[in-house]
Order: sequence, then structure tokens, then C-alpha cells
Amino acid sequence: MPKIIVAIDGYSSCGKSTTAKLVAKQLNYPYIDTGAMYRAVTLYFIQNHISLTNPKEVETALNQIQITFRRHPELGRNDTYLNGLNIEDEIRKMYVSEKVSEVSAIAEVRHALVAQQQRMGRVKGIVMDGRDIGTVVFPNAELKIFMTADPMIRAQRRQLELIEKGDLVGIQEILENLRLRDHIDTTRAESPLRQAEDAVFIDNSLMTLDEQVEMVVRLADAQIASS
Ligand code: DC
Repeated sequence: MPKIIVAIDGYSSCGKSTTAKLVAKQLNYPYIDTGAMYRAVTLYFIQNHISLTNPKEVETALNQIQITFRRHPELGRNDTYLNGLNIEDEIRKMYVSEKVSEVSAIAEVRHALVAQQQRMGRVKGIVMDGRDIGTVVFPNAELKIFMTADPMIRAQRRQLELIEKGDLVGIQEILENLRLRDHIDTTRAESPLRQAEDAVFIDNSLMTLDEQVEMVVRLADAQIASS
């Protein structure tokens, strides 16, 4: 059976990763969370006090970073490792989230991670999600999805996720944070978030998770059949 690349891009907190993970499971493809890679670099930079405005320091640090993904034996999830250490929980924390937009706007960081992502997809049969997968990483991906949802609905979903972690944050604060991240992601000079011309646009505001997954799997199956 021919293998394809499924590239899923979109705004923060619009359910990309949850959808991408389930699509990958159904297609029996590995799933790569590129946001986790930017978060891993951010964590390394914070821990090692790397100056973001010093390109030489950034370049040297990037050469010392190895990011890998391994399956968690009990939880079944794909965990992110930085130089052999499991950092999956650490990179989701607020102090990393607050710095990641700044780190992911650095050209040297993007070049290093895009090159690694391209190597990961060389043999195809992969689902990758992020902000620039269909535009920069795999401009020839067989299936490109651009996902979004109404900002208030994204904020409400994010609030529920935070409540599940015991974190009570007001809806206005979440909404403002989402708007700020949307602004940074779409206006940065280096590969800003934008919809590829040949991407399928999905607004999932009124869709269930099952419906989104089914829609993407159907599109992927059609691509596989015609490849
Ligand atoms: O998907 P996420 O929220 O975990 O992503 C974390 C950050 O990384 C987000 O601010 C945007 C950035 N990112 C990026 O610039 N390019 C990607 N391909 C993936 C994420």
C-alpha cells in the first residue's frame, strides 16, 4: 500500500494534536508533534541560560540538542525526550509555554528543526502537526489540513483542559492569551502560520472529535487510493 504524508497545521488549542494522534493511530502511521520539538529546544535554552539574541550561542546550543520520541510503555503515548531524558510533562508547563513563541521565531532554531522533521518524513507514512508543515516542511505532502475553530470555543476547550489539571483560569485571560499567540504565530518573519493553497480547511467549532478524525481519515484514504 502506498504511504503518504499527512500535514496538519492550524492555530493553538484548536484540537490539532488530539485529531492528529487519532488519525495516525487509524492509519497506523507514527505521529510527530512538532510543537513538542520547539518546546524541547525552549526548555534546553531556559535550563542552560542561552541568550536568544546571540546567534553563535544559539547555534552551539542547537548542536548539543538531540530530540527523540519514544512510546510510553504504560500510558501508550508518544513521549518527547531531550538528550535521553523524558521531558514530556516538563515542556507542557506554563514557564515553557510563555517562552516558546519567542524561541520558535529564531531562524536558526527553525532551520535545525525543519531539517530534522524532513528527515523523519523521508520514508513517508507519517502524520505531522504544527504551524508550517504544509507550507515549509512538506510542501509536497499528499494531504494537507488547515484546522481552526471559533476563538471562544477554543478558549472554552482550553479552560476545560486546564480545569482537568486543577488549574482554574478565567475565560477572558485564556482568550487574550490565544489572541496573542495567534498574532505572534501569524505575523512572525520566519515561516508564519498560514494556510497552504492546497490545504483542506476544517473549522471544527461545531464538529465532534470523532467527526474530525473520520473526515481526515476519509481524505487520507482517498489520497492513498489514488497514490
Ligand atoms: O502546538 P504547540 O502549542 O505545542 O506549539 C508550541 C509553539 O511552537 C507555538 O507557539 C508555535 C510553535 N510552533 C511553530 O512555530 N512551528 C511548528 N511547526 C510547531 C509549533
